[in-house]
Parts: sequence; structure tokens; C-alpha cells
Amino acid sequence: MRRCNERRQRLSRHVSSFSRFILLIPFVTLSLILPQCRAQQPSTAIPETQVTARANGLLQQMTLDEKIAQLSQLPGFPDPQFTRNAANPEDVIKKLGAGSVLWVPEPKEIDRLQHLAVEQSRLHIPILFGLDVIHGYRTTFPAPLALASSWNPQLVEQVQGVAAQEARSVGIQWSFAPMLDIARDARWGRMIEGAGEDPYLGAAIARAQVLGLQGGPQVAPDRVLACMKHFAGYGAADGGRDYDSSYVPEELMWNVYLPPFQAAVDAGVGSAMSAYMDLNDVPATGNKWLLTEVLRKTWNFKGFVVSDAFAVDSLIKHGYARDGSDAAYKAFTAGVNMDMASGTYLKYLPALVQQGRISQQQIDDMVRPILETKIRMGLFEHPYADLPKSEQVLNDPQHLQLARKAAQESMILLRNENGLLPLDKSKLKSIAVIGPLGDATTDLLSMWGSGTAPGPVVSVLQGIRDKAGSAISVEYAHGPNISRPIPSPFENIPFLKMKEQPKQTPEEAQKAFDDAVALAKRSDLAIMVLGELDLMSAESASRASLSLSNRQEELLEAVAATGKPVVLVLVNGRPLDIAWASEHVPEILEAWYPGGQGGNAVADLLFGEASPSAHLTVTWPRSSGQEPLYYNHNLTQLPETAPDFKSRYWDVKSTPLYPFGYGLSYTTFAFDNLKLSAEKAQLGGTIDVSADVSNTGSRAGTAVVQLYIHQRAGSASRPVRQLEGFERVTLAPGAKQTVHFKLGKNELQFYSPTEHEWVVEPEQFDVWVGGDSNAPLHGEFELTK
Ligand code: BGC
Repeated sequence: MRRCNERRQRLSRHVSSFSRFILLIPFVTLSLILPQCRAQQPSTAIPETQVTARANGLLQQMTLDEKIAQLSQLPGFPDPQFTRNAANPEDVIKKLGAGSVLWVPEPKEIDRLQHLAVEQSRLHIPILFGLDVIHGYRTTFPAPLALASSWNPQLVEQVQGVAAQEARSVGIQWSFAPMLDIARDARWGRMIEGAGEDPYLGAAIARAQVLGLQGGPQVAPDRVLACMKHFAGYGAADGGRDYDSSYVPEELMWNVYLPPFQAAVDAGVGSAMSAYMDLNDVPATGNKWLLTEVLRKTWNFKGFVVSDAFAVDSLIKHGYARDGSDAAYKAFTAGVNMDMASGTYLKYLPALVQQGRISQQQIDDMVRPILETKIRMGLFEHPYADLPKSEQVLNDPQHLQLARKAAQESMILLRNENGLLPLDKSKLKSIAVIGPLGDATTDLLSMWGSGTAPGPVVSVLQGIRDKAGSAISVEYAHGPNISRPIPSPFENIPFLKMKEQPKQTPEEAQKAFDDAVALAKRSDLAIMVLGELDLMSAESASRASLSLSNRQEELLEAVAATGKPVVLVLVNGRPLDIAWASEHVPEILEAWYPGGQGGNAVADLLFGEASPSAHLTVTWPRSSGQEPLYYNHNLTQLPETAPDFKSRYWDVKSTPLYPFGYGLSYTTFAFDNLKLSAEKAQLGGTIDVSADVSNTGSRAGTAVVQLYIHQRAGSASRPVRQLEGFERVTLAPGAKQTVHFKLGKNELQFYSPTEHEWVVEPEQFDVWVGGDSNAPLHGEFELTK
């Protein structure tokens, strides 16, 4: 309730200070936040003592096999590829019940399976249905990396609130989100699923996602249980190769990879998913340090842990477990409560208990949090969804408005050299939309977005056609098809609808290429939509090269060579190698995978009905050879800024093409008047930092004001810069606002590899405030003993 009031107050402050720019504050913001606040006070909340008493009562009645069924998550369709060594899911449900079922997006099938569990299993324990509702169920929002580019946690919370409401309305009570893996290497295909490379921003977005999905620390009746994943270190895969081992020293875990997870735990996340890969030679799914020491003992996490898909069984493939029994033992004793899809617990835990290697007490302790979750969520009272009623939720027109606004706020203007953008309709008679993603629909949703029940998708072509109106002719040329030379293992999975573009003969591809160039020649403007299909940047979608693949670069250069103005719109899941475009294509908009309203949002931005305000949450390299590349690296004895030293490579500059935090607007901003509350503060004290941001252009716009710090010396080298605050500020032309930040213990501490603990050190600090991680506006202060 207090949170709600605070949020209302915050909102009304925003509304009054910006009321003169009313057009920039859609009514939808208010109307979507208020229902969210209500959802945070579940009227059915059951006191915790009763929750545990009920769970214990059930445990007393349950057989060992029934308990182990609660520790199992069954694949919801009997496809041999997915059931592998598991028993037939339906038989298990009827006989023993099941902790959870996953991969069933269809409401009627969920309902049917739930009826089996509740009506036919002996103790009538409902199933917890889980699905990858990562950024929407019917309404598909921008993919997580895109949404994080908004630097707008409030928006992220709203979006996940709607995603949760839609999912819960059809009986999905558990989402495998948020994905909190820090990603510093764009070769890794799953970068798109997270918030980027920064622990501070990652923590803010993590918190917002948990609050949105669950409605608060307790799962509200119209929300879903959140599941933070993949715990932990998955994004550090060697060479950016998905599933490969990660080697992350303990201090880097604490300082960089773990903060988003800790923020999620602090926000009350109810479940966690263990990662696939080896972390420092111990697979995350059998890693006691991660799952017990850090998660339960240090953070006091009270929810339950599910493995990633088949990851318990995979402990054998890792060369960590001798056989299925050993795999079950190692995962269970490390702290994995629930086995996702591999059936290993079902098969081997009974014997492990009979042999006395695992006690009944240990089993009860692992089942209890699962039962408690179901009790707290009210599943026993309300196991079934009200499907006719769900149609109202799924078709709420406000959801589409929010998806459009979220997409507008997620797209980053990387370049607008000639000021061609926003486009002036009165100067255009014909537009060529060119490129293999120009008419894409499912591909705008990204991998998980296509695996739920997405509604209609507006392609970029459609969005531009609708916006251009009848006075401007809009024609489309696809250009050569694009595809992965090595196919995705996810292409033929039934509930994911991802498809390659068909292979063409060289002649067909050449004709498509020539048609595209010809169209550009006879048009006033070419809007090129290039990038990656959804299965090119996803799970199992790492790349060694970040090029615009399959002749896309060549097509871009050929269209630019016509001399017609070119706007490049990128649809993709990671920074790509656009070194040539960054010099020769004056207008570049990064749209990421923008979701179902993506085409409308691209058109809104290109034609100036919305103003770009998103900023990079990952460092954009010049070439894939620079990866991993991240802004918060340490200083070296010879920095790039030293005289006579230009680069750490001799064939390319080692600096990024675009720095972390970068993003343009249709207006310009100036930052000045940096003030610190003191030049010296005692350890334990707080420094207030303020700076002015002014809109120096001729249009209204939103700046993302960022605060970075650097500790100059200490018990360890500290990053050259690290983000410790940010705020979105919307300003009319000529307007100015003072932004305030606080630097206290949370911002100044770090885990010291020499002290083996969290420290705040009496040292000299630098501070910068500005529009990206290269911000020049500088101040300094000292912490004293
Ligand atoms: C992915 C997880 C996902 C799970 C269930 C795995 O392959 O790594 O992120 O939640 O499948 O679909």
C-alpha cells in the first residue's frame, strides 16, 4: 500500500511538472498504473503461518512418489523429443499429480490438464503451469534488451504487469522471466533476452520486472509467479558460444553478474532457474555455492529453484554426474527443487531415498516451498482460469497502446547526420521499403514472443504504409532471402513458430537484389530494414561474425550508391557490425525485436509522431573481434587516451562504435552545473550530486541523464566508470531541469578480491553526469575515515 501511495505521489509529481507537455504523457500511463497498484493488495492473502501449516498437513498425507511428482515439471505434450526418459505426463498427472507442467500455451489444453490433476489425482493438488511469457502473451511487447533500452523501469513494470495479467487469465501462473544474465559479448545469441551489460541498470530492470510480473513480493491473484534466470553466469559463456563454460572470478560474480539477481530476490521473486553451463567447472544446476550458499544462505531466498530444461539429466553430459542417479543426487543436494522436463527426479529419487542417501526430511524440505507457493497463490481455491472472461483481458485495447508506447521508447536513434529524420511527408511522393525484414511479422516478436499466443503483428512495411497515407506511394522489395547456414535446433519445435526464409538459387537471389536496387532508383527515399530473423539471435544462436549476413551489407551499399537518401532500420537482437553504415548511411534507427506494434512504432518515430529516447544498454563494437567489449572495464597502464597511443589493436580502434548509454533524440541536450554536496565526506556518509539538463534544440524530447563514478585507488582496481544512477527527463525546447542523485553505501561499495568482503573505501572518487558513458561533465570528492 505504501509503495502504491509513493508511486501515486511520484506520478502526480511527474504529471504536474510536465503538464505543459501533455502530449508527451499519454493518458494510458495513468490508467495502466492504477490497476497495477490495486493488484498489489491480494485480498485473499493467507497468513504465512497458515501457509506452512497447510503445506505440512499435505506433506503428512503424501506418499514419497507423490512428493517426487511435486518436484517434477512435465513437458505438456507427449512429443518423444521432449519427454525423453520421462514417463507419459498424463499418466503421471492422473496417478501422482505434478508440481508443474510447461510448454502448453493453449488455454483449453491447460484447462484439460488441470482438470486431470485436480479431479483425478488422489490429493487433488493443482498443477502450476509455467511458460516462457518473457515479454507478453497475446500482446507482444519489445524483447527484453529493447525494453531495457528505454531506461524506464516504470514502463517495464507496466509491461510485465500486462503480460502477467494476460497469461494468468488463461491459466498460466508462472513465467520463466525475468532473464537477468549480464551480457558483455554480442556474439552470445541470448543477449536479446536480458537487460544488457550493466549491473546497476540490470538490477533496476530486474526489480521492475519482478514487481510487474508478480504485482509485488506476493503474487497477486491476477499476476504470475516470476522466475529469475539463469542462475548464474550464463552470459559469460566462453567466446560468446551458447551453453559453453563460464569462468567468472568470485569478485566479478558479486560485482557484475549477481546484482540483478539479488535485486530480484530483494523484490520478492518467488522462483529461480538454475543455468545450463559450467560455472568455474561446476555446472550451475549442481552448484551448491550458487544455489545454497549464495541464494538461500546469503540472500535468504524463500522460494524454490527449478532447473533449466533437461539440465538435471545434462549433468551426465557435462561429465559431472556418473549416471541418472548421480545427476538426481547432485542437483537435489545442490539445491534444485524442481527438475524441468528431464524426468530424472521421478526416475531416480525414490531409490535414493530407499538407499538412505537422501532423507524423507530432505524431500519434505524441497517439496514444501512448492506447495507453499501454490497455497499462497490461491491455486487450491482457484485452479481453473475463467476462459470466457480471459477474452476481455486479452483484447484490452489499452494493452496495444502500451505495446506501441513501449516500442517507441525502446528504439535507439544511432545516427541522424543529415537531419533527414523525422521525415517530412510533404517532401515525399514515393518511398521504397527494402530488405528481408521489411515485411516480417513473427520475426519482430523474437523467439519467445512467437511461442505464446501472439495477436496480429504490424510489420514495418505496414506501419509505414498506414502512416504515409494515400498521397505517398510505398512499394516493397524484399531483397535476397536470409537464413542461417547452420540451422537452429529451435526451428521445428511445435509451439515456437520460427521459420527460416526459404533457400533461393543464386539467380533468384540476384533477381531479388536487382529488383531492390531498381526500386530504390525510382523512389524518393529508401527505408532499408535489415538485421536478423528471430532465430538468428536467441537461444542456440551465437555468431562468430556480427555482419549484416546473407548479402544484406552488399544490398545496403548498392542502394546507398544510387544516391537516394537512405534510412537504415535495424531489426535484430544484438549490436551488429555496421562500421560501413555508421560512416555512409546518415540515418540509422535500431528497432531491435520490437513486438506486435513494432511496425507502427517505427513509423511513429520515422515520421516524428514520437521522439526517440532510448539508449544503449550494451556497448556497440566496431567488429566482432573486439568482443567481449564493455564500458566498465578497468584502467590499464596505457589507455587509449594516452598521447601517441591510439588503439589496443593495430587493425581497428579498440574503442566502441557507440558507447554504452548512447542514444540520440530529435532534439539536443546540454548538461552543466554539476554540484556535489561536499568535497569530502566521512565513510558511511552520503554525497548528493546534482546537475542541470537543458533541451537546447527546437523539439520536445526525453533525455536519459546518467551518473557514473570511478574510485581512483583502493584494495583493488576499480572500473574506469560505473553507472550509479539515471533518470529520464522530458523537456520542452529551451526548458531546463536539475536532476539529483545520491551516492551512499549501496553505490560506493564493491566486493573486494583482496578483502573477500564488501567494502567502502576512504579514497578519491570521480563523478560524471551526462547522456552516455563518455559524458565529460566531471566532479570529484573524497571519502575520509
Ligand atoms: C531455456 C530457458 C527456458 C526453458 C523453458 C530453456 O531452453 O534456456 O530460458 O525458460 O528452456 O522453455
